[in-house]
Amino acid sequence: MKVGVLGGGTMGSGIVQVAAQNGHQVVLVDLNEQILNKSKHQLDKIMNRLVEKERITQEQANHTRSNIHYSQDIHDFAKCGIVIEAIIENLEIKSKVFAQLEQITPKGCILASNTSSLSIASIGSVLEDPSKMIGIHFFNPAPLMPLVEIIPAVQTSSTTLKQARDLIDDWKKITVVCKDTPGFIVNRVARPFYGEALRIYEEGVADFATIDWAMTIIGGFRMGPFTLMDYIGNDINYTVTETVFSAFYYDPRYKPSFTQKRHVEAGYFGRKSGRGYFDYSEDAQNQLANENHELGRQIVDRILIMLINEAIDAVFLNIGSKEDVDLAMTKGVNYPKGLLSWCDEIGLDVVLEKLEVMFQEYGEDRYRPSPLLRRMVQNNEKFFT
Ligand code: NAI
Repeated sequence: MKVGVLGGGTMGSGIVQVAAQNGHQVVLVDLNEQILNKSKHQLDKIMNRLVEKERITQEQANHTRSNIHYSQDIHDFAKCGIVIEAIIENLEIKSKVFAQLEQITPKGCILASNTSSLSIASIGSVLEDPSKMIGIHFFNPAPLMPLVEIIPAVQTSSTTLKQARDLIDDWKKITVVCKDTPGFIVNRVARPFYGEALRIYEEGVADFATIDWAMTIIGGFRMGPFTLMDYIGNDINYTVTETVFSAFYYDPRYKPSFTQKRHVEAGYFGRKSGRGYFDYSEDAQNQLANENHELGRQIVDRILIMLINEAIDAVFLNIGSKEDVDLAMTKGVNYPKGLLSWCDEIGLDVVLEKLEVMFQEYGEDRYRPSPLLRRMVQNNEKFFT
């Protein structure tokens, strides 16, 4: 099947590589010629590196390269069986583009968006036949991250869902199906990783370095929350938080933080600006963590309990199955364990008790335990046996 990718930026280029390496003829369309050249040049570099490291043969590299056709003309999608859109995150622009795509592509062509934050239903609403619209959400970098979230909208047909999922499974990706709600699974369940860490800092419990030390050394996470926010870019991470907050009708659980907002306002975006929560300049003197294990344990407990509650609520609201929620967090953001398995390990009653204590102490909705957790504790159940 011929695959179309619209938008040759970070995500589009990665998706093109994945499809081409899996033997598809791929058409990459971008309006900007320089972007197309850059994408081609980068793919060449990646292929050369993979050959050098003997991960692929020269023939395979040549084959992948020859599978890709670069174009500035959207009409080149005329023979595609699927088009995956990865252009700017703007509903108005995406809507125009999808209406156009439907006119150009064959009748049965699946039209997919890689959007992180827009609703698939709203993008699909511009189509004459919205049953072929679906969300296919890759993670960055697409060739390396195993997880892909598949998001059927209310209009999506079961055939579209099956075909899209089968295709991405064939690309040796791990697919999870999620409801068309803000943040899908990963970007929803991960909110407390940032939010609760910022809150702990704001309460003066610990500084950035100490929280990051606790989460990595004691918690086993690959990166601490502040290092990760600096890596993603505080401007981007803050915008995602604001979008999720308003998309959830201002549910206080997702409230953005003033600390992060001030860092953005100050231009402290993180690594890319040389300074974020930490200083990345050459002669930087960053604060040292307070390696007090008791404090560290408390920090990990609090963030982890909030993450687990969020994961349970996602299952409660059928955002994804319990299996998919655990897979999503281990394969999409490299958490050391699935949050629901982790909950089983800690004990559902222990998790509930800790949440109740926080809920009592703060009187804030953000700490309310998920009804599913209460129900399961009452029935003495676990997520996995
Ligand atoms: P990017 O800014 O790197 O690339 C977007 C590309 O689209 C640019 O090359 C631009 O020239 C092109 N473009 C814009 N309008 C166009 C049009 N009408 N026709 C053809 N090409 C057009 O953006 P990025 O980061 O690759 O994001 C793309 C999409 O993927 C967004 O919807 C974003 O939310 C989503 N996404 C981004 C992730 C990330 O980590 N960057 C992760 C997962 C999803």
